[in-house]
Amino acid sequence: MENISRSVVKKDHAPKMSGRSIYVSDYQTAQSGERILTGKLLRSTLAHARVLGVDVPELPEGYFYVDARDVPGDNNVNIVLDDTPVFCRETVEYIGDPIAMLCGPDPDEVERLVKACRVRYEELEPVLDLAAGQEAFFDYRFGHGDVDAAFAAADKQYDETFETGYQDQTYLEPQGMMAEPEADGGMYVHGSMQCVYYVHGALPRVLACAPEKVHVFQDVTGGGFGGKEDYPSVLGCQVAVAARKCGAPVRCVLDRREDLACTSKRHPSLCRYRAAVKDGKVTALEIDVRFNAGGYSTLSAVVLQRGIIAAQGVYNIPNLRLRGRAIKTNTVPNGAYRGFGGPQTFFAVEMMMDHIARDLGVDALAFKEAHLVKKGDSTSTEGRYHFPVPLPGMIDQVDAACDLRKKRALYSQPQTGRYRRGIGTSLYFHGAGFTGSGERDLIKAVAKLRKYADGTVEVLAANGEIGQGLRTTFPKIVAQELGLPLEKVSYNHPDTARVPDSGPTVASRSLMVVGELLRRAAAKLKAQWRDGEEQEVEERFREPDFLIPFYLDKFSGDAYPTYSWGVNAIEVEVDTYTGKTKILGAYGSFDVGTPIDEKIVIGQMEGGFLQGIGYASIEKMAYDHTGRIRSNSFSDYLIPTAADVPNLKCMLYVEKYPEGPYGAKGAGELPLVGAPGAYVEAMEQALGGVSLHHAPFTAEDTMDTIVKEGL
Ligand code: MTE
Ligand code: MOS
Repeated sequence: MENISRSVVKKDHAPKMSGRSIYVSDYQTAQSGERILTGKLLRSTLAHARVLGVDVPELPEGYFYVDARDVPGDNNVNIVLDDTPVFCRETVEYIGDPIAMLCGPDPDEVERLVKACRVRYEELEPVLDLAAGQEAFFDYRFGHGDVDAAFAAADKQYDETFETGYQDQTYLEPQGMMAEPEADGGMYVHGSMQCVYYVHGALPRVLACAPEKVHVFQDVTGGGFGGKEDYPSVLGCQVAVAARKCGAPVRCVLDRREDLACTSKRHPSLCRYRAAVKDGKVTALEIDVRFNAGGYSTLSAVVLQRGIIAAQGVYNIPNLRLRGRAIKTNTVPNGAYRGFGGPQTFFAVEMMMDHIARDLGVDALAFKEAHLVKKGDSTSTEGRYHFPVPLPGMIDQVDAACDLRKKRALYSQPQTGRYRRGIGTSLYFHGAGFTGSGERDLIKAVAKLRKYADGTVEVLAANGEIGQGLRTTFPKIVAQELGLPLEKVSYNHPDTARVPDSGPTVASRSLMVVGELLRRAAAKLKAQWRDGEEQEVEERFREPDFLIPFYLDKFSGDAYPTYSWGVNAIEVEVDTYTGKTKILGAYGSFDVGTPIDEKIVIGQMEGGFLQGIGYASIEKMAYDHTGRIRSNSFSDYLIPTAADVPNLKCMLYVEKYPEGPYGAKGAGELPLVGAPGAYVEAMEQALGGVSLHHAPFTAEDTMDTIVKEGL
C-alpha cells in the first residue's frame, strides 16, 4: 500500500463524534449577537395553477410576509437556465412550489401564520405523465455509424423499455440556510451546502448588488449526496431576500417531510432501447431516454448529459443513435444524486444486454465480456479511452470473492422449493469529473495554499466536506508533498471571503481535480519555502493535453479525461411464500485509482453501494394523480441500513490516473451506479428467468411476479 493510502483519524472526527460541531440549526444568535428570525415557506398545494392572490392573516408586530414583490433584483435563481424563481411568479409549477416566506421570532407563531394564509388559485391542467409529456427543457441527439444499415443487416432485433423511479438523497441533516444582513449593506449567507460559489453566484442578481457585497460560508454539513448542489442556491436566495426585507437575520431549516416532498431527487426515467444483433454481437443501438425533470429545469441538463453519454454502457457498439430529453412535468424539480443520470441508463443497458444474451442462449456475463471496451477504443461520443480498462481483472476479483461464474451457472438451472436464488452482475464506469468542457470553459478552478510564519499551512479551496472526507484528504495530499506532519496542514470550511473559486463539490471532481491543483501548489511551495515567512501559492486548472476537445453542440469528443470502473455481483434468495428477498452477498470491485485514504475510500464504496442497493430494491417514492409525493417520511420511504446487507464486500482495484493526485480518480459517486443492474438481474434468475424492466424491484413486485408466473 502506498504511504498516502494509509488511513488516519479524520480531522473532523472528534467534533462530530462529541456533538461539538455547529450545524446551521445550532446557532443561538447571529454573528452580530442579534436574535435569529425563523422563516417558513408557504408552498403551493396544487401541481399547476395560476396564483390569483394570497389572503394573508394580520401579522403581529415583528412578523413579515415575503414574496416575489420583495425581490430587489431578478426573481431568478441562477442554476443552469434562469427559470427557477426565488418565489413563484404568476403560476405554480408543482406541489411545494414556494409562494412566499413568513418570518418572525417565534417558530410556532410563524407556523400558525403559514397555515392561516389562503391562496386563491385558478387551477390549470398539470402534466404528470413522463411518457406523455411533450415539453422538453433539453433535447439532445447524437450517435455514430450507420444505425439503419445495421438494423437492415441484423439477424435479430430487440425493443424494450426500462423504467426507474425516484431516489431521495436522505442526507441526515435536512436542508437549511441562514442570511445575516451586515452593517455595510452586505449579506452573509451560510448553511448546509456543497457549493459555496454556486450560492455566491446566485445572490447578487437576486439582491441587485455587487458580488463583493455577499459572502457565503459552508456550515458543517450533514451529508449532501448531490441534493445540496442546487437547492441551497434557491433557499439561500429566499432567506437573503427575507433578511433584506426584515432587516434581521433569517434562518429557514426544512422539516423532514417538507424536505422529502419538496426538494430535488434523482430523476425518474424511461429508456427505450432498440438493438440490432448480427452473428451474436450487438451491432447497433437506438436509444430514447426520457428523464422526468419536474417543474423547473435546475440541473437537468447536466444530469441528462451524463446519463446519455453512459447509455451505451462499457461496450463497443459500432452504431449508435440516441435521443435524450429532460421532460417538463408539474412535479418537484429533480437534480443531482450521486451518479448523476448514470444509474438510470446503466440499469437500462445492463438489463438490455442481459435480455439479449438470454434470448441468444448465452450467459449474460460472457456476452457482456465479449463486447467490452478497452484502452484506445472510442467512447460513445467519439472520444477515447486513453487509459487501460481494468474490467477483466476486476471481474476476476469479484469471481474470486463469490464464485460468481459457478453460481450463475448453478442458479440458472430450474429451481424448486420455497427459497430460490440468483446472482446478477453489472459492469460500469463513472466518468471522472465534470461532463464535457465544463472544467475548461466554466469552472476554471483556482486553489491556493497559505503558509504562516509558524510553518503551518492552510488549504484555501471552495470544496465542502460533506462526509466524503475532504477536510482530511486535501491536507493529506499537501502534507505528503511538503513532507510535513498532517497536524501542520489544515482545511477549514470554505468562506467565499477567504477562498478562491475552485469550483463546486460535485461530479466526484474535488479530490481528483482540486486535489491535484493542491498537490502542484504544494510542490511549488516546497521549492520556494522560506522559514519564518508568510507565503501564498496558487494553482490554476489546465486541461490535460491528451484530451480530444468536447463540443456539446455535436456531443463529440472526450466527455471525461478518465473513468473510474466498477464490477458488482449481488446474490439474492427469494422466499416464494412471502415475496421477501434476502441479500446473501453484495460484492464490488472498484477502481478509483490510488485511494488517498483507504478507510475513507472503503467507507465511500460501502455507503454508495448500499445506497445503490436501496435504489434497486426498496426505495420507492411516487406521486399520486394530483402530483403529490406520497412517501414523505422515513416510515414510508425506506432506506437500507447495514443490517439489510450484512455481507457487503468492497474491494479496491488500482489503475492509477497520471493526472490525478498520486494517481487518484473520482471516487465518491461510482459505487452507487451499478447496483440496480446487478440486483434486478439476480432477481430475474431467482424468479425462474423472467425478464424484468424496472427498478426499484420491491417485495410487492416480487410477489406479483411469483403469482403471475405461478412459481
Ligand atoms: N459521501 C458522504 N459521506 N456524503 C456525501 O454527501 N456525496 C457524494 C460522494 N460521497 C457524499 C459522499 C457525491 S454526490 C459526490 S459528487 C462526491 O462524494 C463528492 O466527492 P468529491 O468531493 O471528491 O468531489
Ligand atoms: Mo454529486 S451528485 O455530483 O453532488
